[in-house]
Amino acid sequence: MPLLNTSKLITIERHITEEGSLHPESTGEFSRLLRDLTLALRVLARDVRRAGLSDILGMTEATNVHGEVVKRLDQHANDVIFRAMDHGGHLCVMASEESDGLIRIPDEYRNGKYVLVFDPLDGSSNIDVNVSIGTIFSIYKRLDPSLTTPGTLEDCLQPGYEQVAAGYAMYGSSTQLVYTSGNGVDVFTFDPTIGEFLLTFEKIRIPKRGKIYSVNSGNSHKWPKGVREYVTHLLQKAPDGSRPYSLRYVGTMVADIHRTLHYGGIFMYPADTTSPNGKLRLVYELNPMAFIVEQAGGRATTGKQRILDLQPESLHQRAPCYMGSVDDVQELERYLTDYGDEFYG
Ligand code: AHG
Ligand code: MN
Ligand code: MN
Repeated sequence: MPLLNTSKLITIERHITEEGSLHPESTGEFSRLLRDLTLALRVLARDVRRAGLSDILGMTEATNVHGEVVKRLDQHANDVIFRAMDHGGHLCVMASEESDGLIRIPDEYRNGKYVLVFDPLDGSSNIDVNVSIGTIFSIYKRLDPSLTTPGTLEDCLQPGYEQVAAGYAMYGSSTQLVYTSGNGVDVFTFDPTIGEFLLTFEKIRIPKRGKIYSVNSGNSHKWPKGVREYVTHLLQKAPDGSRPYSLRYVGTMVADIHRTLHYGGIFMYPADTTSPNGKLRLVYELNPMAFIVEQAGGRATTGKQRILDLQPESLHQRAPCYMGSVDDVQELERYLTDYGDEFYG
């Protein structure tokens, strides 16, 4: 699939403004919110490019809420997004994978009607070795948009189907921004010489079936039986050439999902014997990615339930995940049903 499918020369700002004008009730507040957010992403794209030159790689002394050592770039990305978003008057609260509780809007600024949740730096283990990393975000409307008081935990714990928009930036060989507001998925590529994200792929559609699976196989001894049998099946040769599948696993969800959007196949982070809810976080990682994957015509499930239908109970909650091409994900679900939830090991 070519990585460019449009002849339109259009920036993300213009694209979002045009989408907004489709809604007569739109006040432009959402477009301004996105403008602030893309500023943060542009700053981060620059900082990631300079990471080898400046002193922001490596560990900090801190441990985050998940017990992981915080990398300096994680913390930096968290700070940049906060500084771009705290004063615009569009948000009433934020939450981040790198912050324990809610991130409140400082008292001196107005509380708006939107909620921003984000994973400031996805793929931390790849930062120091110059492998693709990213930023994931998701936007909700607060439960009562007429309020001007600070947003609450409940505003942040809305099910994924309530997302107004979601996206990710991938800092790869180029920086790309993949974005949906429920009207399909568009890909923008950052041109550093003009400082703009330009539309490069309009309404991307994930292939109905792929030939790639993406999972940390080092955990296979701990997987549910169904996942192990499924992967064994993918590796068997089929007479029609549809198998064996190839394995691709970057270890940065943004990069693994980005490839899956273009080439199809399945991305998995199953529950296992030591992580009964898998590793990935529902609010910051799974919901935005599930929204994007579904909007591109794919499927995203925990194995039991559509990810977007889950009611989050806490900010940092984890859930198992299987997402990608419809036929691949449905085939995996059949294996889970046939073999049940039992674990090996
Ligand atoms: P983060 O860097 O935000 O903590 O996320 C890392 C996640 C995700 O990007 C990736 O898919 C997964 O962790 C990789 O986990 P394993 O190293 O366990 O495979
Ligand atoms: Mn992450
Ligand atoms: Mn992260």
